[in-house]
Amino acid sequence: MKKLTALLLALCMVFALAACGEDAETAESAAPSEEPAESAAPSEEPAENEEPAAESGFTTVEEGKLIMSTNAAFPPYETTDDSGAVIGIDPEIAALIAEKLGLELVIDDVDFDSALLAVQQGKADMVMAGVTVNEDRLAVMDFTASYATGVQVVIVPEDSDIADMDGLEGKLIGCQRGTTGYIYASDTPENGGYGDENVIAYDNGITAVEALKNGQVDAVIIDNGPAKEFVEANPGLKILETPWVEEEYAIGLSKADSADALNEAISNALQELIDDGTVQSVLDKYITAE
Ligand code: ARG
Repeated sequence: MKKLTALLLALCMVFALAACGEDAETAESAAPSEEPAESAAPSEEPAENEEPAAESGFTTVEEGKLIMSTNAAFPPYETTDDSGAVIGIDPEIAALIAEKLGLELVIDDVDFDSALLAVQQGKADMVMAGVTVNEDRLAVMDFTASYATGVQVVIVPEDSDIADMDGLEGKLIGCQRGTTGYIYASDTPENGGYGDENVIAYDNGITAVEALKNGQVDAVIIDNGPAKEFVEANPGLKILETPWVEEEYAIGLSKADSADALNEAISNALQELIDDGTVQSVLDKYITAE
């Protein structure tokens, strides 16, 4: 119940923020849209580039760059390819935002906790890492509107006797350090968790799944997106049919006043990509429907 209230609160706040962003965008775009595009000065760039960074009044951590912190062990949102490049839903959306803002995207791949901290400490302009919006994070970060949803699920070996959430009682659970899955699972049983002593935090989802395969934990609690990918890549594992907590993913932003203009530009760019269906097509490209 507490969890649900917290989630609802977080959602309300996301929608409140999103609403702000939309108003600002409508106000800004009202003027140019009254005139047909052709009447603009012929020497001007195409519509997307109408507002170069210099005129938008925002500042970034490094001039001309949009630094995104992430933890690339979370496919399909972010993972690395053979060359070590970070690929996935988040970098793809981030690249489109950077393009709209006239900035060069720079991706900083670190631990998940560090990715969240980077934005709070002014080392990154935004964190995109399948970050769930929750009350605690809203206290230290700003967020854009939600661009995707996630559900916490349980991965177990195919022959496991764990059949549902109750079956996890007294078992060892692996999670990714600093994630909502860890926070919920390690909470007290009165609060719907399984107790700190029953939960082991791993550096990331991949190492948690390795530990499950090696029998070091009985189950892994993680977001459904990566869970599906990990189970597909590791025969002998399955996802329980009982989805746990539902969450909203958004881009985490700095709370510093100096970041307000950039935050608004990022939020507006994301909103445009949501409204014109681009975000959905990126999600569809990486997430195949069942
Ligand atoms: N959605 C979860 C959270 O926000 C897990 C995110 C983990 N992301 C990652 N890139 N490793 O806590």
